[in-house]
Amino acid sequence: MNLWAKSKSKNYRNDYTANGKCVTMRGMDKKLKILTYGCQMNVADSERMAGLLSTIGYTLTENLEDADLILINTCCVRGTAEDKVIGQIGRFKTLKRQKPSLILGITGCMAQKEGAELIKRAPHIDFVLGTGQSFEVAKVVESIERERNHFVDTSNVSGDIFTGEVFPIRGGQVSTFVPIMYGCNNFCTYCIVPYVRGRERSRKPEEIFAEVRQAVAEGFKEITLLGQNVNSYSGGMTFAELLTAVDKIDGLERLRFMTSHPKDLSDELIAAIADGRSICEHIHLPVQYGSDKILKRMNRVYTVEKYLRLAEKIRAAVPNVSITTDLIVGFPGETDEEFSETLNFLRTVKFDAAFTFIYSKRSGTPAAKFEDQIDDETKHRRLNELMAVQNEISLAKNLELVDKTVEVLVEGASKTDEKIYTGRTRSNKLVLFEHGTEKIGDIVPVKINQAQTWLVKGEVVDK
Ligand code: SAH
Ligand code: SF4
Ligand code: F3S
Repeated sequence: MNLWAKSKSKNYRNDYTANGKCVTMRGMDKKLKILTYGCQMNVADSERMAGLLSTIGYTLTENLEDADLILINTCCVRGTAEDKVIGQIGRFKTLKRQKPSLILGITGCMAQKEGAELIKRAPHIDFVLGTGQSFEVAKVVESIERERNHFVDTSNVSGDIFTGEVFPIRGGQVSTFVPIMYGCNNFCTYCIVPYVRGRERSRKPEEIFAEVRQAVAEGFKEITLLGQNVNSYSGGMTFAELLTAVDKIDGLERLRFMTSHPKDLSDELIAAIADGRSICEHIHLPVQYGSDKILKRMNRVYTVEKYLRLAEKIRAAVPNVSITTDLIVGFPGETDEEFSETLNFLRTVKFDAAFTFIYSKRSGTPAAKFEDQIDDETKHRRLNELMAVQNEISLAKNLELVDKTVEVLVEGASKTDEKIYTGRTRSNKLVLFEHGTEKIGDIVPVKINQAQTWLVKGEVVDK
């Protein structure tokens, strides 16, 4: 269905301001607040839903009290993500009582997973929309404005994906996301994503190029192409070809992508990164674990040896590349021996940074039924040990930057001190520096003089 055409036929019209933000020119000015949990894909979806809702008169507000419509775009990858959402839904009960006209909608992965159960538990929710139906959000909200009925649709998890006809309303000023595919076919045994995001669906290259061009015209300098496993992109060209084509778009300063699965990161992609202009020297390559027996039971279909060879190959082909990863501790059946293998693996591969998670049992996934689930105390102990080992490595990696001059894309003032600005290197390291004359979106040379585990500090030097 072409919602854009439909909304036009209703005489709503979007115009673009100088900074490219979409504003509604006709229709009642209603306020929308979106709370986004989870990964970058959810951030991108929220921006698309904001775009769709602008066509029926909604503009974004920061203030919850002003909102006529609140969307909670949810995540369920771990129990902790769900707990946050449940807490948030509970807090809106009072707000809804004070303002009965308020519409509260739940979208995203937890909406897909729980469906009508959410409304049963919290009847102040007006609607629940699954991931495959997010593009229908404007239609659903219009019907609720008219009829004030509860509405639930999670029927088609692999449903139609957003098309180029939707203009996302992007947050930020410098860096933004462009989804290239939705869903996942990998079924890692611990993971809920394939069940709540459906089968892999790739967007057409022309649609992706058009969206990147539009984001660049809006002033964005850095684009991250998104997919659960970008290497299995199948929109009529390989992912490496897509990346190389996007790299040619005028005005784009930096191009990133995530996430890559080690099982099919191709030589062609490594060459594309090495040869690229704006393609940044950073690969997020989740390994999940450092022992073959567990990798097998996770259904990751590569071995530790294969991963190490891949990392070596990337480092040989791409100078100054950074490799980051995700790791899960406490997977069912994990022994002390396997865990120490993982610590040794970390010491060998030397990631620039790692996001470490405690295994969370997700009902409906195969691993939830595995025997020998690990107790909480052991999980926490192992997480702390793992983080201590990785933190030392991350610090050592960051120390290598001291006295070097790096290119930093300026993102703006830090949260705590407006005289201190932050930015990132091409290798995705966070850099803090004293603000001089540089503007947000500039690329400036910074000489690094101090390193910490998660960031480096330096000063802007002459070009
Ligand atoms: N498609 C991406 C990201 C998936 S979710 C990928 O494959 O890398 C992001 C991360 O969450 C995963 O890499 C994994 O480390 C973690 N994760 C997924 N399911 C989990 C679970 N049940 N418990 C703990 N961490 C989990
Ligand atoms: Fe989950 Fe594995 Fe798919 Fe990533 S590749 S989303 S971890 S099933
Ligand atoms: Fe969470 Fe869904 Fe992303 S489960 S991690 S928001 S794909």
